[in-house]
Amino acid sequence: QQDAKVSVMGASGGIGQPLSLLLKQSPLVTELSLYDIVNTPGVAADLSHMNTTAKVKAYNGPDQLKDSLKGTQVVIIPAGVPRKPGMTRDDLFNTNASIVRDLAAAVAEVAPKAFVAIISNPVNSTVPIASEVLQKAGVYDPNRIFGVTTLDIVRANTFIAEAKGLDPLKVNVPVIGGHSGITIIPLISQCTPSVSFPDDQLKALTERIQEAGTEVVKAKAGTGSATLSMAFAGARFGIQLIRALNGETGIIECSYVRSNVTDAKYFSTPILLGKNGIEKNLGLGKLSSFEQKLLEAAIPELKKNIQKGEDFVNKK
Ligand code: APR
Repeated sequence: QQDAKVSVMGASGGIGQPLSLLLKQSPLVTELSLYDIVNTPGVAADLSHMNTTAKVKAYNGPDQLKDSLKGTQVVIIPAGVPRKPGMTRDDLFNTNASIVRDLAAAVAEVAPKAFVAIISNPVNSTVPIASEVLQKAGVYDPNRIFGVTTLDIVRANTFIAEAKGLDPLKVNVPVIGGHSGITIIPLISQCTPSVSFPDDQLKALTERIQEAGTEVVKAKAGTGSATLSMAFAGARFGIQLIRALNGETGIIECSYVRSNVTDAKYFSTPILLGKNGIEKNLGLGKLSSFEQKLLEAAIPELKKNIQKGEDFVNKK
């Protein structure tokens, strides 16, 4: 067993708590550092009674932010405000942009070599924000910053398994692009096992995957956005990062990263992970003509989101 210290920033929230629970349950985590501006002592005390490996420690409020990051290898950030009905992920921009900027500055100072996995929305913009902050601090390694898009893959796998009567654990659909609306590009033509749908069903499935977050926002009727499934996806991604750090080979996950695969500066594709983060960007693969059109629609929107994030750091 190798040491793996994981920090969750925003650990008391709707995503943060179940994410921390799932990480506490993993035998791969040896230390779990919980940071939030409220309630971490309670969350940590509660989780610390579980008879699993990870030692849990609470850090509460900005005075304890830097301490929470000391020696950490993986930082997962779900801090922010959630989406309410009628809000797009972009409406969250101003609040969450400041939160991510400030947390990234602390990471740059205390844990510049850590892998950073960002959940706070809009991910299309918050990943560029954190990257700019690290760059300004002179510690940016584009191979170590990830936008967590795993929930898009998880949803695509589930919906396709349902449509075809397959075991959801055995379906794997790459989802590329960004993490909001039309920037989400499910590559159903690259699904394993291979599946095919009539055009209208393909379109409906694609749109359901793109708008699945809104499905949850509506169902929660004003109380928030996806938390439990997001925590599941965030834990899956975080644990893959730990496995890669531990030297396991062949780990592939889609993630929103610095990229030169398209002309969007950040873009999600399948990534081969290794000890130093991104070992290889596996690119787009072969797209169907339907997917090619989705890509063409996504790129301008994605570029706008990226620019907005970069401007937030550079012009303020
Ligand atoms: N530093 C650390 N934690 C913070 C900060 C901060 N500066 N500001 C807010 N938080 C914490 C809150 O105290 C809260 O515990 O972040 C947590 C957010 O939890 P919720 O409000 O329950 O929101 P949640 O549903 O978890 O979503 C958080 O993830 O998917 C995205 O769109 C979602 O951006 C939103 C984020």
